[in-house]
Amino acid sequence: MLRPVLVVVFALLVGGPPGLARADEAPRESVHPSFVEAGQALFRQHCAVCHGMEGRGDGVAVSALKTPPSDLRKIAARRGGTFPAGEVATWIDGRFESPAHGSREMPIWGNALRDTEPRAPGLEQEVVRGKIDMLVDYLRTLQVEDEAP
Ligand code: HEC
Repeated sequence: MLRPVLVVVFALLVGGPPGLARADEAPRESVHPSFVEAGQALFRQHCAVCHGMEGRGDGVAVSALKTPPSDLRKIAARRGGTFPAGEVATWIDGRFESPAHGSREMPIWGNALRDTEPRAPGLEQEVVRGKIDMLVDYLRTLQVEDEAP
């Protein structure tokens, strides 16, 4: 009578429940695909004009800029392989960058991504932060290893 129970307990001890085991193996920075899709839509709407549809830095407005827009596929490669999500978010936002960085050609998205008609009072900053997070999630998926241009 007890045997089948023991077999199940043993299996759980050795292998762990399949669901849990999978959760442990998930990459730490995995994000829901719909976040990445939403980030891509925002990117195409707001960023591709300078950075290009694939983030290569070849948007249609390039010739009008003094500074070439960064190749956004190489954010990590330029930093020894680490994608600095927080730093990227702060840069995109732009409101908290020190003026010591000199002239910035990229717009201050922390202002520009605000809802034109705020949905709920007090939520304005949450909306901006959410959009920037989705953009960062999308940019993470673009990263290539090669540092060469
Ligand atoms: C008007 C052109 C323009 C637009 C639009 C634009 N950028 Fe940029 N971006 C630049 C330029 C130019 C740089 C290089 C730094 C500077 O501003 O001098 C840059 C740099 C960056 C960097 C820094 C990369 C690094 O390795 O440090 C990130 C990240 C970035 N842009 C993301 C975005 C995102 C996301 C959007 C859309 C929300 C966007 N950009 C829209 C022009 C633009």
